[in-house]
Amino acid sequence: MNEKKLVAFLPGDGIGKDVCIEAKRLLEQLRETRGLPIDLWELDLGADRYLKDGTTFPKEIKDRIESEVSAVLLGALGDPRVPGLEHARDILFGLRFGLDLYANVRPVKALADRLVPLKDRGAKDVDFVVFRENTEGIYVGMGGQFKRGTPDEIAINEDLNTRKGVERLIRAGFDYAKTNGKKTVHLADKSNAMKHAHELWHRCFFEVAKEYPGIEAKHVYVDALCLYLVQDPSPFEVVVTCNLFGDIVTDLGAGLQGGLGMAGSANVHWSDPTRPALFEPVHGSAPPLAGKDLANPFASFLTVGMMLTYLGYPDEEPRIEAAVKRAIEERHCTRDVGGELGTRAAADAVLGWLA
Ligand code: NAD
Ligand code: IPM
Ligand code: MN
Repeated sequence: MNEKKLVAFLPGDGIGKDVCIEAKRLLEQLRETRGLPIDLWELDLGADRYLKDGTTFPKEIKDRIESEVSAVLLGALGDPRVPGLEHARDILFGLRFGLDLYANVRPVKALADRLVPLKDRGAKDVDFVVFRENTEGIYVGMGGQFKRGTPDEIAINEDLNTRKGVERLIRAGFDYAKTNGKKTVHLADKSNAMKHAHELWHRCFFEVAKEYPGIEAKHVYVDALCLYLVQDPSPFEVVVTCNLFGDIVTDLGAGLQGGLGMAGSANVHWSDPTRPALFEPVHGSAPPLAGKDLANPFASFLTVGMMLTYLGYPDEEPRIEAAVKRAIEERHCTRDVGGELGTRAAADAVLGWLA
């Protein structure tokens, strides 16, 4: 039981580095004060490394992650010096696809009324979880370009959906709902336009739903979902959706909870929680903010909470969330969420309360 867990740390690019420094301090403090048996292994991967020696995501690192690591904590990837994002795709998709982390779990929960930008709505109305399929869809990179640069050029990205891939993600959403006392699961798709791929999602969703009799299965077109989320998000508890829609809807969701600085996420192989998983804030590398003590570290703190629950220390996540909530309420926070503090000072406030 008390075996040490190895966490691989991958700050990456831009504000990924800024928030990861704080996430590391949080983990180190919890290791001391709460006795968490965790070792850290920092990975020197990202744009700087790629520009230095061409390294993106070496096989030996992936192999060691697969065999020795319990969780990877990622900051963000993306750097204007690498406009083609070659390194980011290799690393991010190398982890998500390579470790078969098919469920991207993205909670959308507002921690204070003032963070909710909707008229006459507050924190009680914003509390749902998006289950985003994370290994298929339009992200697989199948396709190509033909006659590039000519007036006749053609560009194709295939949208790949397998029965296995769709079913396991939908099942993860229902499992989560059942375990967490949620009453409904929504499927968000475009089965009206995507009659092949999303007919499969639609059919599979209602078949899987039969295995969960206490949970209401509801369908919503993803365009309408965007409308409902900005009118009244309160009916939503669990949303299952494909890779691309999950990406888009969770940035919208982040907007409902106070911005990308407040949104954490987990990438897991849901049916086998002993496998290494990937944890990352929903936000990107925000190049204009990088290295300026401006980035909000709380998305990464909430992500650390999710990671610690996954690693078998479930008492930490509510403690971290409560401390972040207090920081928001007392305005010990960064500018994006209405405070005046820098990254370090906002993190210090939370670390102080958790000490
Ligand atoms: P972004 O998430 O970096 O930024 C979007 C907006 O949110 C910006 O206004 C930014 O200032 C703000 N923001 C984001 N995180 C914040 C934080 N912690 N504190 C305060 N404000 C924050 O998205 P983008 O600008 O579209 O992308 C920038 C780069 O990041 C691109 O290269 C993109 O591909 C990459 N990206 C990477 C990931 C990832 O690694 N998981 C996720 C999204 C985007
Ligand atoms: C995210 C990001 C990535 C995605 C990009 C950087 C490829 O937007 O994690 O939300 O689309 O999955
Ligand atoms: Mn995204």
